[in-house]
Amino acid sequence: MKIIKVKNYDEMSEEALKIVLNVVKNKPNAVLGLATGSTPLGLYAKMAEDHKQNGTSYAECRAVNLDEYVGLDVNSDQSYVYFMRENLFKNIDIKLENTHIENGKAADKDEECTRYNALLDELQQDIQILGIGSNGHIAFNEPGTPFDSVTHIVDLAESTIKDNSRLFNSIDEVPRQAFTMGLSNIMNAKKIVILANGSGKAYAINELVNGEIREDVPATILRNHPDCTLICDELAGKDI
Ligand code: F6R
Repeated sequence: MKIIKVKNYDEMSEEALKIVLNVVKNKPNAVLGLATGSTPLGLYAKMAEDHKQNGTSYAECRAVNLDEYVGLDVNSDQSYVYFMRENLFKNIDIKLENTHIENGKAADKDEECTRYNALLDELQQDIQILGIGSNGHIAFNEPGTPFDSVTHIVDLAESTIKDNSRLFNSIDEVPRQAFTMGLSNIMNAKKIVILANGSGKAYAINELVNGEIREDVPATILRNHPDCTLICDELAGKDI
């Protein structure tokens, strides 16, 4: 795993932007694996800015997102589909019909997982952007998730519900379940970039870099990937 340690959030986002632009310039119809959460917001703002200033086009790109809360769809401003539209898609020229995410409102959840796995088989990510949970989760693959997992439904860990409650009116509103790409779907990406900032991520980053590769800390699987780059700021990387 390549490690890029930077001073702060802005530099982390800038380094990530360089990698994304390189992928898109070399392959205009690249498949972009995208994440939600606070971590990639700076990258998405920079992609929007670059699109406006320099005209980088995403018109031929496809996007696949990691995860979605069960029970939420685009009509909820807490859903990840809404998050992506507001924070990235409406600010670049990607076509909405080329953007994909699990349907949080699917009537048959197992069928939805099957549909998404088939889609991911067709749309191998040229690059997958990841954040990391304070417990080492990636996407919503919580500690203990099998390394060979594919898209599935998860019961969110208490720590994740607590971490994510800041984005809801109250902790009771945080959905208890989510759809998530599995670890095997993530590892299938040609290139992976994992971003981390802030001291809350220091434990997870130390485990990612120095811990034993194990299902108890899902992110450690990334050390088995041939092209994975960690970009972290000083606080997240303080123990490595
Ligand atoms: C988001 C996702 C999560 C987040 C992680 C970190 O799609 O899959 O794994 O990347 O929970 O969240 P933030 O960035 O809010 O600290």
